[in-house]
Amino acid sequence: MNEVLMSAHKITKRFGGLAAVNDVSVDLWRGRIHAVIGPNGAGKSTLTNLLAADLPLTSGQVTLLGQDITGWTPEKISRQGLGRSYQKTNIFLPFTVWENVRLAAQSRDTQQPWNPLRWFHSTVSNATKATKAINATTSIAAQARAERAIALAGLDNRRTAIAGTISHGEQRQLEIAMTLATEPQVLLLDEPLAGMGVAEAERMVELLLKLKPTHAMLLVEHDMDAVFTLADRLTVMVNGQVIASGTPLEVRANAQVQAAYLGEEAH
Ligand SMILES: Nc1ncnc2c1ncn2[C@@H]1O[C@H](COP(=O)(O)OP(=O)(O)O)[C@@H](O)[C@H]1O
Ligand SMILES: [Mg+2]
Repeated sequence: MNEVLMSAHKITKRFGGLAAVNDVSVDLWRGRIHAVIGPNGAGKSTLTNLLAADLPLTSGQVTLLGQDITGWTPEKISRQGLGRSYQKTNIFLPFTVWENVRLAAQSRDTQQPWNPLRWFHSTVSNATKATKAINATTSIAAQARAERAIALAGLDNRRTAIAGTISHGEQRQLEIAMTLATEPQVLLLDEPLAGMGVAEAERMVELLLKLKPTHAMLLVEHDMDAVFTLADRLTVMVNGQVIASGTPLEVRANAQVQAAYLGEEAH
């Protein structure tokens, strides 16, 4: 059943005098991809950070699965069903694909945010020991979640590869697998196609289409081919403000958007 899984109501984030996100509202529906586009500095990453509570709101309200989650911690929101990926990759390069996904799966149980460096420094002093520690501490349920996430992300054949040695595209797939490992219902993806070649981008688009029916998705993306292939809804931000929102066709026809953004190369 299609329904709104997550909403932002008039959310604002000020950094000093700068309103990086200014009075933005958005509804994320299960089965729909809501793309957010706009030039660099428009506030897209800040918007995802606000939804995931990685940054506190200045004002406004966020709901997830019918609950007001304003002021909740990122860990609690993650356990409630939100998964996010970052514009800069968040994987732990010395570990295998499988270990990365397993740790992410486990993070849901341990009430710890996924922070590999902190975990690594506090737990172990080298990667071999780390692998043993991961094997020893991952619950059966977390392992099952990791298995499903790896399969869903199409990384079954790369599970024993060291994350630092796989291609950039595969690293982004790994990021998605790690996000899926907590079994989120809502996905916030910040530029998942960044830096990808054509073939890698096509694979990622296929993966996102596969995830679409069962998830609500916010997709920040500069690749306009991907955006117009994937998005059911499109929000255009400039200087923290929403200048247009609607179906991709409606937004494409909007003269203000063409002047501000679509007419130029997206950077
Ligand atoms: N932690 C921060 N402190 C101060 N200013 C910030 C911070 N994060 C982002 N900004 C500013 O907020 C604006 C929006 O940034 P961002 O959300 O990263 O834009 P986008 O993702 O659309 O490129 C930019 O002007 C940026 O410099
Ligand atoms: Mg950004």
